[in-house]
Amino acid sequence: NSAGQAFSNQSDADPTQPSTRIAVASALSEFTAPDAVTARIAGTEVTDRTTALPGVDPSSGKPLYTWQAVGESEVELAVAAGLAGADRWRLLSPQERCDVLDAVAATMQSQRAETIAVMAHDAGKTFHEADPEVSEAVDFARYYGRCGMSLEPGFEPYRLVVVAAPWNFPYAIPAGGVFAALAAGASVILKPAPETVLVARHLAEQCWAAGVPDDVLQLVLTDDDSAGTRLITHPDVDAVVLTGSSATAHLFRSWRPGLNLHAETSGKNAVVITAAADLDDAIRDLVRSAFGHAGQKCSAASLAIVDGALLDSTRFLTRLADAVRSLRVGAGYDAATQMGPLVREPEGDLRRALTRLEPGETWLVEPEQLSGNPLAWSPGVKVGVQPGSHFHLTECFGPVLGVMRAAGLDEALELQNAVPFGLTAGLFSLDDGEVEEWLERVEAGNAYVNRHITGAIVQRQPFGGWKQSAIGPGIKAGGPFYVGSLGRWPTPADDL
Ligand code: ALA
Repeated sequence: NSAGQAFSNQSDADPTQPSTRIAVASALSEFTAPDAVTARIAGTEVTDRTTALPGVDPSSGKPLYTWQAVGESEVELAVAAGLAGADRWRLLSPQERCDVLDAVAATMQSQRAETIAVMAHDAGKTFHEADPEVSEAVDFARYYGRCGMSLEPGFEPYRLVVVAAPWNFPYAIPAGGVFAALAAGASVILKPAPETVLVARHLAEQCWAAGVPDDVLQLVLTDDDSAGTRLITHPDVDAVVLTGSSATAHLFRSWRPGLNLHAETSGKNAVVITAAADLDDAIRDLVRSAFGHAGQKCSAASLAIVDGALLDSTRFLTRLADAVRSLRVGAGYDAATQMGPLVREPEGDLRRALTRLEPGETWLVEPEQLSGNPLAWSPGVKVGVQPGSHFHLTECFGPVLGVMRAAGLDEALELQNAVPFGLTAGLFSLDDGEVEEWLERVEAGNAYVNRHITGAIVQRQPFGGWKQSAIGPGIKAGGPFYVGSLGRWPTPADDL
């Protein structure tokens, strides 16, 4: 068992090894989508729906499978089963729960190539985006299992937690929420985003196969209809762990004003590049931060706030434009692809960002819709983004980077902190004084110096935001307090 085994991070697969490339290539070629993806409630498949919803392969824009959403009566069944499961699961020792989570981690690690193939098809993820998700999920299982063992006596886990997971990290983020709740001693209903139900089903099957009981983890698929509302508002659901937009978090709260919501939401993340930056590092890591998974990350860089002297010399912009134009855009499952497709058709702020300029802005690299797939877009960079403009202050969640001018670090910090969110932030500078000042003043949950601003590592870089990027207790995922936030602590009055 896991007693005494300290946590250490799982390394990613090494694509320079032929064995990795062979394993991934063969998993991709053997991949077949099921005809239908179904919910599973207390071990029973929900297969009797009349409506088949489409599951789309974002790389082609074509249907990959169908899936079935549950109705309100299945939500009732899932809640009842989850409560029964919780009453047994909480009686296990933290060590026993940690052992189950270690078994889940081992299963996930052994099926890494298959999982990458599922993410490539269902979520448009390239190898370089999908592979670290597997490592992160493995880390969450092992780390949270050990966190569960250090909870103080008197901790009362919630009985039933709903994990409402996003489509942009369709494997690691649901895994994190599910494993934290399981480690705390709660049972879980996983409600994935409608766009990536196949990845969620794959994850849930790995958990069941490794020993998580059927009623302690249930998979409920909804299309954000009445069943989804019933699930979030159900009085027997103790807490909802949401990773999604601020709008979704506010919607959940409007449905249920007293909702115990742990939400990690939107970001409008900027990277500051001062005159003292190493431009080789800055441009490489900015491009990675802005266009990894086509910018569809709450942590992605959406703004580059650049020292005016660098902009005047044009060297910076020329190199940035070359780097962005050189990105190979394509299918998630094509090994040559550097930027995959969008997962949802662009609308709202993303469509606006991709297709319109505001006063003062010009395209350095104009994004284009490619081929006949409405999800295939090339990356874009706009310069001249103005302080206080829509693009400056609004999340767009896609492959558009805006460049802003700053006269120095002071002004750069003002522009960076002016956004209503505070999730990730970056600084490129080799000047120790600038680094110190920036770290002191930047308003972001995760602040990175001289490196990319996505891809936080469990335990080493607990992840979570400030300001409008967090709604609820704001406890960081992958950090030491997350498992303990999914339950109740004794109050002084309990001792009386
Ligand atoms: N945890 C994810 C990242 O750091 C969102 O990119």
